Amino acid sequence: MSSIEVSPIAGALGAEIQGVDLSQPLDEATMAQVRKAFADHVVIFFRDQKISPEQHLAFGAHFGEFDIHRFAAGLPDHPEVMPVVKEADDSGGNFGGLWHSDVTFYEKPALGSILYALDAPAYGGDTMFSSQYLAYETLSDGMKEMLEGMTAMHSAKRVYGNQGTSINRYGPQVKSMEIRTGDDAEAEMEHPVIRYIPESGRRCLFVNPVYTIRFSGWTEEESKPLLDFLCTHAVRPEHTCRFQWETGSIAFWDNRAAQHYALNDYHGQRREMHRVTIVGERPMSIQDGERAKAA
Ligand code: SIN
Repeated sequence: MSSIEVSPIAGALGAEIQGVDLSQPLDEATMAQVRKAFADHVVIFFRDQKISPEQHLAFGAHFGEFDIHRFAAGLPDHPEVMPVVKEADDSGGNFGGLWHSDVTFYEKPALGSILYALDAPAYGGDTMFSSQYLAYETLSDGMKEMLEGMTAMHSAKRVYGNQGTSINRYGPQVKSMEIRTGDDAEAEMEHPVIRYIPESGRRCLFVNPVYTIRFSGWTEEESKPLLDFLCTHAVRPEHTCRFQWETGSIAFWDNRAAQHYALNDYHGQRREMHRVTIVGERPMSIQDGERAKAA
């Protein structure tokens, strides 16, 4: 068994892991340490890795089944590996350049995503992460009490909906990737506003400004002031960490308890990543969590 080293990079969340070579099969004792670091720190980072798509998938398989993104194409021979690319001559939008959690419009949003840098810019293109545990824990008791019984509707429509303009509404169009829009992005999915995470036994805020459309039973207009407040509070600087990529770096975030934001500040430089996304469970409300603990 190898012993890994875990070094936090910020007070809120995020830790770098040393002593793991992800191109090699990992024994259960090492995996137990990686799982603990993931649960404790919400997002974990590895440096100086060199992995093929097969090795990337082999690491991901320890955590569950793979998602094939409904709107962004995967590699032709590995559809579960999604290239996240911005070319040097593309001065437009980047993928993920807004605070969000991945695919919360699914019935079972992602457990997490494992992002590997094949070609990192010399500077810029960092990714920020924000702890949604802290976002929940720092709300007032009155606000927590109000939100605990509430659910919200999530939808891909603002980004992948059948009006092309919807992409532009949320930032300049992403040109360096194969992204489709369509009717199937218009559906809405209901999730608890406060989510219980079984591994940590903690509660987190589960709304994001891209996919959360409104509170259940409320109109979009009625929902906007409270959603705006929560989405701003969710990403307060003291809830965040910022990761500077090098070629060979990997980030693995708990998509249930973190939002992330890919900075688009490297025009004229190329950035190429591979993302493998793990399917998660149906989000548990606090009541679901209490029932699960009692069982
Ligand atoms: C994403 O949202 O998955 C993209 C993150 C990044 O490219 O840093």
